[in-house]
Amino acid sequence: MTMKIAILPGDGIGPEIVEQAERVLHALELRFETETALVGGAAFEAHGHPLPDATLQLAKDADAILFGAVGDWKYDTLARPLRPEQAILGLRKHLELFANLRPALCYEQLKQASSLKPELVAGLDILIIRELTGDIYFGQPRGRRTAVDGHFPGAEEAFDTMRYSRPEIERIAHVAFRAARLRSNKVTSVDKANVLETFQFWRDVVTGVHAQYPDVELQHMYVDNAAMQLVKAPKAFDVIVTGNLFGDILSDEAAMLTGSIGMLPSASLDARGKGLFEPSHGSAPDIAGQGVANPLATILSVAMMLRHSLAQPAAAHRIESAVKAVLSDGLRTPDIWSPGTARVGTEAMGDAVVAAIRATSSGKTTTTPA
Ligand code: IPM
Ligand code: MG
Repeated sequence: MTMKIAILPGDGIGPEIVEQAERVLHALELRFETETALVGGAAFEAHGHPLPDATLQLAKDADAILFGAVGDWKYDTLARPLRPEQAILGLRKHLELFANLRPALCYEQLKQASSLKPELVAGLDILIIRELTGDIYFGQPRGRRTAVDGHFPGAEEAFDTMRYSRPEIERIAHVAFRAARLRSNKVTSVDKANVLETFQFWRDVVTGVHAQYPDVELQHMYVDNAAMQLVKAPKAFDVIVTGNLFGDILSDEAAMLTGSIGMLPSASLDARGKGLFEPSHGSAPDIAGQGVANPLATILSVAMMLRHSLAQPAAAHRIESAVKAVLSDGLRTPDIWSPGTARVGTEAMGDAVVAAIRATSSGKTTTTPA
């Protein structure tokens, strides 16, 4: 059966970078169908909702979803359910994409672009696994009300609920331990067990799951310390597993270690491996339409899609090799540019990756040695 990929470009730089990622996908000459739909602010403009039913249905029916980015400051005054961010939260929730994989990889060619000393980040390869459908992001109840107790009874207040159930923690812990087995066999579970009931429970449950993975080393770390260690000695980490809120924050921090968030792909997977693939960065409305956005994070998200949802590891590898080749050739979008390298725009970067893919054998050609 032909694989079906839903393409949701979204807002800001989303459409420009997704266009390049689609060109790369087609250059692989695999058999699949694509179908594109509006999401985020673009969907709100056209249909009055950031995640229209038709878009959600398309995402549900597809084997994988390639997502650009959503959001623009001009929507900040809309009622929360209509804001572009609700599209991505809605997709995560409705498709049960509970496992968010955010690799932070520092390419040898880009170590100068990091704000940390090159020797601290050269060779950095960590994987943040963020739980994506629970925690204070989705916990009920939440809202505004009049305080009946606390420091100011009678005052207006707002509240959210941090909560995790045992199965939610167990399934993300399994993802982390299994991922570690394919890497350096080390998991750091990040929590705030010293203060929060939810995260003492998190620590207890992760420790319980660890009993099934005696070959994997498990370390627990408080989130404030983890934030510090990430800038002090990032290479000491291998797999980091944490909750939704801490993972949101730490994954941006880790991204910056690598030089540019414009390089980092991400995968959000359900229990069967179906997923949504998107760059780790946002919609960058300040540079939208200028043709300068870095498409590599989105292109690398296609590689993650091929590997995790479409069972095409060789094709994923071709994309990753092509990206390394264009970096070695010295091509740089403005976010990763440094003196002595060639500054190129979004489309030229896409052209270069497509050319590098075409230059590699598709695996179909056979060469007979003389
Ligand atoms: C992310 C983003 C989202 C999040 C926003 C856009 C809702 O920051 O994917 O990290 O907070 O999860
Ligand atoms: Mg974030």
